Amino acid sequence: MNWPRSEELLAANAQLVPGGLASLNRKADPVIAFVRAKGSRLWDIDGHEYIDYHAGFAPYILGHGDEDQNAAVIAALQSDLSNYGSGPTLEEGELARLFLKAVPHAEKVQFFNTGSEATSQAIRVARAWTGRSHIIKMQGGYNGHHNAVATNLMSTREQLGGVAIHGDAYPGVPFTAGIPPVEQALTHSVPFNDLAAVEQVAKRGEIAALITEPVLQNIGVVKPKPGYLQGLRDLADRYGFVLIFDEVKTGFRSSLGGYQAVAGVTADLSTYGKAVANGFPLAAMAGKSALLDLATSPDPAKRVLIAGTYNCHPVPVAAAIACLKKLMDPAQRVYDKLERLAQRLEAGQRDLFNRYGVPAVISRVGSASCVYFSTVEPADWWDILDHHDAAFDTRYRRALIERGIYHFPVIVKQGSISFAHSEADIDQTLEATESALRALTGHPKTT
Ligand SMILES: Cc1ncc(COP(=O)(O)O)c(C=O)c1O
Repeated sequence: MNWPRSEELLAANAQLVPGGLASLNRKADPVIAFVRAKGSRLWDIDGHEYIDYHAGFAPYILGHGDEDQNAAVIAALQSDLSNYGSGPTLEEGELARLFLKAVPHAEKVQFFNTGSEATSQAIRVARAWTGRSHIIKMQGGYNGHHNAVATNLMSTREQLGGVAIHGDAYPGVPFTAGIPPVEQALTHSVPFNDLAAVEQVAKRGEIAALITEPVLQNIGVVKPKPGYLQGLRDLADRYGFVLIFDEVKTGFRSSLGGYQAVAGVTADLSTYGKAVANGFPLAAMAGKSALLDLATSPDPAKRVLIAGTYNCHPVPVAAAIACLKKLMDPAQRVYDKLERLAQRLEAGQRDLFNRYGVPAVISRVGSASCVYFSTVEPADWWDILDHHDAAFDTRYRRALIERGIYHFPVIVKQGSISFAHSEADIDQTLEATESALRALTGHPKTT
């Protein structure tokens, strides 16, 4: 399969926009320029159709162009709503009420446009609350593009220069230039599922916050071991740092209340984005009133600036309200359907990998899943680096794309099912998977 027009478009845009794309994280091989999306389907400029499991990096929990959401957005536009930039709005109040109903462990909520804004504000709040500057993040965790967290995603051992890896914190391995060394020195990375490494840093007494996705979903789906999240909660209480669960990916996808509702462990602050508005730009920080209320602290030394020209713009707000209403509507049974489809896909994949003799671990939380070509379910990034067959993953993703199944063509990127997917989509995906495995392995195994 070829994508000549996609490549032409990238080259033309690259004359004007560095790299040819508005987000360099969207660059992958093959380069595919999409021109249309509806429900579970995508169409590219070269005339190919796909079943989508990328979901725009996971937001589209209802699917593309959800009719109810579209109607709500059109109604907002036709109601002469604007982004007045002065005073409260009825709609932000309505969204906050719905949000806090869906996420009952949160006492208050504040809204932004992007996940990166939410995580940077949460870190700022934690620093103001504790009067400390250092933070802990996870090796293999992605919490946005800003200086505090743009470090240690898919590091190599060489980049870490021979540190002990487990039970230890790492030097920063930034994934962007331009972070001042003084800021880099404030971020400590540790392996996921390793409480000893957290304690090692925390006992120095200078940690303002630990930020982590409760399930690492930017390196597939790396689940917390039993007791790990509670262990983080206990360490936060013992050493007085703010526990931030970054639910930008897991929020409204793992369950209505996010992964915290699944795990039964509550962070002090949590961040949301993506699925909250089914693809429209809206994000949130939620949690304890005492922390969020720093925005209006009478003490200027504690007061945290929360500001943004486009915070709660009426279009994404209408989109988020419509999305939450649908996710919360018992008649829709959204999460039941997502689970049923996800189980069907997982069972089919398991059977195929077995029949074709491909060592694979399928890690799944609800509608989010990842296939690791490995015999080891990863507990952290190092397990992926050591055991996952990255070359096979690259070939597998390419083979699926060539058969009309779109997973983002970068290793260990999460697959996401939407409410718009059907059983027929899953069955078509499994047929394509079988064809891909036949091409990659030659034949089903004989024994
Ligand atoms: C867990 C997590 N946190 C934060 C972000 C940053 O969100 P945004 O890209 O909307 O700034 C992402 C984006 O992928 C994410 O997956």
